[in-house]
Parts: sequence; structure tokens; C-alpha cells
Amino acid sequence: MKTIAVFGVGYVGLTTGACLAEMGYRVVGCDVNETKINLLRQAQIPFSEPGLAPLVERNLSAGRLSFTADGREVLHDAEMVFICVGTPTGPSGAADLSQVEAAVRLVASAATRPLIVILKSTIPPGGTAEHFAEILARELPPQLTAPIVVNPEFLREGSAVHDFFFPDRVVVGAWDRAAGEQVAALYAPLRCPVLLTDPASAQLTKYASNAFLAAKISFINEVGRIAEQVGANVYAVAQGMGLDERIGGDFLEAGLGYGGSCFPKDVKALAAIAEEHGSSSALLGAVMDINAGQRRLAVEKLRDALGGLEGKNLCVLGLAFKADTDDVREAPALDVISMLCDQGASVRTYDPVAAARAQEVLPPHSRLLYCQDAYEAATGSDAAFIATDWKEFRDLDWNRLGSLMKGNTILDGRGLISPQQMRENGFRCLALAS
Ligand code: UGA
Repeated sequence: MKTIAVFGVGYVGLTTGACLAEMGYRVVGCDVNETKINLLRQAQIPFSEPGLAPLVERNLSAGRLSFTADGREVLHDAEMVFICVGTPTGPSGAADLSQVEAAVRLVASAATRPLIVILKSTIPPGGTAEHFAEILARELPPQLTAPIVVNPEFLREGSAVHDFFFPDRVVVGAWDRAAGEQVAALYAPLRCPVLLTDPASAQLTKYASNAFLAAKISFINEVGRIAEQVGANVYAVAQGMGLDERIGGDFLEAGLGYGGSCFPKDVKALAAIAEEHGSSSALLGAVMDINAGQRRLAVEKLRDALGGLEGKNLCVLGLAFKADTDDVREAPALDVISMLCDQGASVRTYDPVAAARAQEVLPPHSRLLYCQDAYEAATGSDAAFIATDWKEFRDLDWNRLGSLMKGNTILDGRGLISPQQMRENGFRCLALAS
């Protein structure tokens, strides 16, 4: 049985490791965070990702999956090492690669057998994979080889397990064709198209895919603003566009815009890559501006509808950057809440799972209250604002919720509920896009 080490057990590393174990490989997950490792040894997942807990539990019990904080020990048996550590945005907007570099250096100093180093972390093209290859060539003992293979991930938070087992494609970038083929072979049971290419193209494919999806979202949000001016309905427009197979209907949901740990970081990093290499990207700049503008637009709509925000009570439903996750990184809701509080409003908020994480990052505010459910959050509010597309919000008893509110204004930032039905229930409906 092939032994695979996974460095970094965040949602990408842990999902990749648990899914590879489910496919029958022996996987050791490794992380510098010992608390996380101790939790995982007891099959406790330190974040919310549907379907991951049973997978971890099953494969731990079957002995195919284990966890350690000792990266050196793992390198005695591993034939492949997946590097899945974070690449957060650095001060210039470019990706901070220090965690990847530390992992590569660990491999170089502790490997005792030939192995393949697989970069799953998102790293910019234009010399970085070459840099890591040079470190390995320079620092590994002379009898060992460790070719680098770039294998970007396309796992959405909230459906990462599904996306692993049913990928649209797997992209593998390698200078060493045999190493690339060995990595591609891991995924053979998934029966999906596998693209074997060079490392830079694999790296750019990842950035370009995320940036394209982000651009689609900003595009439809721009169309939403035009739709409002000309009396059109952006949801009908998106439907009409999406039926064209060349366009496709996904990622055309107008609303509060994108957040999360990936799109904001990767669009910014791709713009930084362009700058660094002597060109600039007007398109990516516009994608980011439009996205930031949607958050301000939400606040303006509420302010205009309520005749100012000073002293008003707002109910904000949803804190996570999207449904089915407790991740609040770059979550639009947090920005909106900060702007509302700064402008004198009191906010009562509720999220099915993300409140604890939000409290870690949102500065405490005397006018910000975290509630136990949507009805408690709505009580006494002048307006309610839907910031996350949780199914739970669609299924609320809106009559009951309306009766608890002081006002009747609702702003649906995610196109989640039918405005017509809401109007029939006595609500005054606002939208970010008409
Ligand atoms: C994204 C990509 O979809 C994954 O393929 C990629 O692997 C991942 O980034 C990554 O780079 O690790 P994720 O950030 O989990 O995945 O979330 P998405 O489902 O793509 O949604 C991103 C944001 O766009 C969310 O805030 C969502 O609410 C928003 N969105 C999405 C819209 O505003 N409108 C849409 O039509 C679709």
C-alpha cells in the first residue's frame, strides 16, 4: 500500500488526505498545530465541512489514516508528500509562501528515501515551483531525488468531499513526466479527465479558474445594477444567459458578492502576478472593485430605506461567507455589520454555525448582539438583511419572523427568497439587484 504524507490539515489537506485514505491509500496527516492533531486523532474535525467527519472516523478506525505533529517521522516511509499548507495574502497582495517553503525545507532535510513532492497549496507561477525545486536539489542528500509536481485543488468549502470524488478535472503539472504520471495515476479510479502539463500552466490554471468564477460573479452584479436602472430583472437575465451552454448558469447569482479564503486572495494574487511581470490587469481590478461595492451598496440601500441608520435596529441573518461552512474569512456579512455599527445602527445577528468564528475576528461592539436563532435576531428590528445563503433562512416561518420585527423591510442579499411571496406576507422587499 502506497504511503502518502499530507502536510497541512486544513480543509484542503484534511479532505484530500481523508479521501485518499478512503480510496485505499495509507495516509498520514501532519500539521505543526498540535491541538489540531490531537483533536483529529479522536476523529474531531476542528472546522465545519459536511461529510468529512464520518470519512475521518472510518479511515482512522481502519488504520489507513493517522495524524502526527512530527513531519520528520512521516518522511521515513512516504512515497509522496502533498503540501497543503496556507498561502495567505502578504503585505503587497502577493501570496505569502513561507509555510510552503518551510514544508519543502523539512522534506529536504528529513527525507530518507526518494519521493514526489506534490504542491497542492495555491502558489503563483513565474519562478516559485522552480525555487522550491532548487531548494530540494541543493539540500537533499545527493543520492535522493524529490521531483516537484503541481496539483492544484478545486475543492469548494462546504462540498469539498463531493468535489474530491467527482472532479470535473484533475490538473497535474510536472517537469518529470514519470512523476506527473504517478500523481495522475492516484486519481485514476475517479474516472475524470486528467490534464498533464508543465508546472507553470498548472499553477496559472488554478488562479485563472478562481479569477474567472469571481469575474462571473462581479459581471452579474454589474448587470444587476444596470438591470435596476432599466427596469429589468437580473435573475431572469442570469437565467437567460445561463441557458447558453457557452456561458453556463453557475456563478451567476447576483447579490452580496464573493468572500472566503480563496476568491479574494487569488484574484488579488493574480493581479499582483501581472504587476510583478510588467503588465497590469484592468479586468481583475474591476472585479475586486465591483465586489467591494456590493457590500457598500447593501448598507446604502438599508440606510436609504430607513431614512438613516443612526439609532436603527438591524437584523443580519448569516455570518459565514457562504452556506454550509463556519468560515468567515472575507465574509461580506462581517464588513456589512461593521459598516452598520459604524453608522450608528444596532445589529442583532444569527448564523447556524459561524457565530463563534465571527466573534474571534469581529471586534466586540456594544451595539452588536449574537442571537440563538433567526427569530430572536429579528425581534424588534427595523429591517432584516440576509447575508448568507443558508437553506435554513429560506425555510423560515417568515410570517412569524415579520410579526416579531418592528418594521417590515427586508433586504435579501443572496436572492434566497421570493420577493412576490414576501410582499404578499406584508414585507417591503429591497434587493441588491432588481
Ligand atoms: C472556490 C472555488 O469554487 C473552488 O473550486 C476552489 O478550489 C476554492 O475556491 C479554492 O481555491 O480553494 P470556495 O471559496 O469554497 O471555492 O467557494 P465558492 O462556492 O466558489 O463561492 C465563493 C464565493 O462566491 C462565496 O462567497 C459565494 O457566496 C459567492 N458566490 C458564488 C456568489 O456570490 N454568486 C455565485 O453565483 C456563486
